[in-house]
This record gives sequence, C-alpha cells and structure tokens, in this order.
Amino acid sequence: MAEGYGYKAGVVIVAAGSGRRMGGGLPKQFRMLGGLPVLARTINLFAQAVPGIDIAVVLAADRMDFWHDFAARFDVARHKCVAGGEERFHSVSRGLAALSPAVDIVAVHDAVRPLATPELIRRTFECAAADGAAVPVICPADSCRTLLDDGASAPADRSRLRLVQTPQTFRADILRTAYEQPYAPEFTDDASLVERLGIRISLCEGERTNMKLTEPADFILAEAVIASRHGDDADNL
Ligand code: C5P
Repeated sequence: MAEGYGYKAGVVIVAAGSGRRMGGGLPKQFRMLGGLPVLARTINLFAQAVPGIDIAVVLAADRMDFWHDFAARFDVARHKCVAGGEERFHSVSRGLAALSPAVDIVAVHDAVRPLATPELIRRTFECAAADGAAVPVICPADSCRTLLDDGASAPADRSRLRLVQTPQTFRADILRTAYEQPYAPEFTDDASLVERLGIRISLCEGERTNMKLTEPADFILAEAVIASRHGDDADNL
C-alpha cells in the first residue's frame, strides 16, 4: 500500500511511441533534459510523489535492451519494463497487465510529460479514489475556432473547452474493465474508453507547465522550467 494513502497505487508510463513529430533520431522520451533522460525524470517523479507506487514502463520491443543499459547510467527509481503494442491502446493494456493485481488506483501517464508536479499527481489519485475516474485539464489560453466542412471556420466557445493532460487516473477495476473492450481508433485516451462504460469522468485542475514534449522548442521551455524550479527565485512553476 502506498504510504499513508489507504490504497495501493500503480502507474503505467507509456513510452512505446516512435516520436515521428520530433523528426528523426532518438525518440524524445530518451533525450536528455536537465541532466537526466526524459523517461528517467518521469519515473522518478511518480516514485517521489507517491512512495511505494508500482511502476510499469511500456517500451517499444526493440528499445528494451537499449533502455536497460541507458537507465543503468543514472539514478532511476525501481520500475518494471514491458513491450508495447501497435497503438497506444495496446501499450496501455500490456502495462496494466504488468502491474500487481493488488493495485487499486492506477494512473496512465505519457513518458513525455516529465514536468507534472507531485501535487498534481496526488490530486488525480485523490480525485480518482473519491470519484472513480479523474482527468487533469487546463483552459485554452488562446481563442479557438472550429473548422467547418466547406473550408470556413467559426468561433468556438472557449469557456466550454478544456485541454486534456495526463496522468489520467482511475479505480483499477474500472480501467481494467475498460481495456477489455475491443480496440477502436476513436479511443485516443483512457478517459474515452472509460466513458464508453457509462462512467462519468471527473475533471481536476491540470498545470500549464505539464506539457507534452512534442517539438524541439518544447525542450527549450522545459529546460527553463526545470532551471527556475531549482533556482533561488523559483516562481511557483
Ligand atoms: O501518439 P502520441 O504521441 O499521442 O502518444 C502518446 C503517448 O503514447 C506517448 O508517450 C507514446 O510513447 C505512447 N505510445 C505508446 N505506444 C504506441 C503509441 C504511443 O506507448 N503504440
């Protein structure tokens, strides 16, 4: 049981994507950020936020040996590795199967979101323990438009839109049942699968700095966030 939480926590960290949008080379989950590989940073974040958490990392089958050797060079919290599948859906499913059956609250997190704070992680666990299904969201900072069929566009009501982040966190029995459904392309995240069971998703407060490292410029911003957190004048980032 995670210390002092009243439940046994687990997390599936998905890192089996090839990262095509970043261009060629090493997938972004293995790139260095503030002196540590991104994936190591994400693993350590969960180990710190929820002591005793069971951590399953899903990797592309042909990266398992690489990660084993690479991780040995750094201080990385205990985790188990499992080979991923064709789509994110299959990767999460395999990660879930690798967690201890004793886990009763489980988060699914993108490896490429290493900047979530421990407070955010604990908030999603508490919300999932109370409500069953919790997803962190933020309000869009920009105005939004909806694309119409004829090439035109129309303003969208920003006050009704939310941007969805991870960790998406659930009672484990709910998520395991959700992943018994057959794969469908519209299942882009875990909340959409759980919702298909007729379960309401609770929204909790996400963080603007919990960004998904997608493009090269994101790494520059992420380095700045890490530096400011370590600095004397850290401004609550
Ligand atoms: O496709 P996208 O970039 O949105 O992927 C989100 C997360 O899912 C990434 O962390 C990626 O590594 C992971 N993923 C996976 N297995 C796949 C596809 C994506 O673990 N087959």
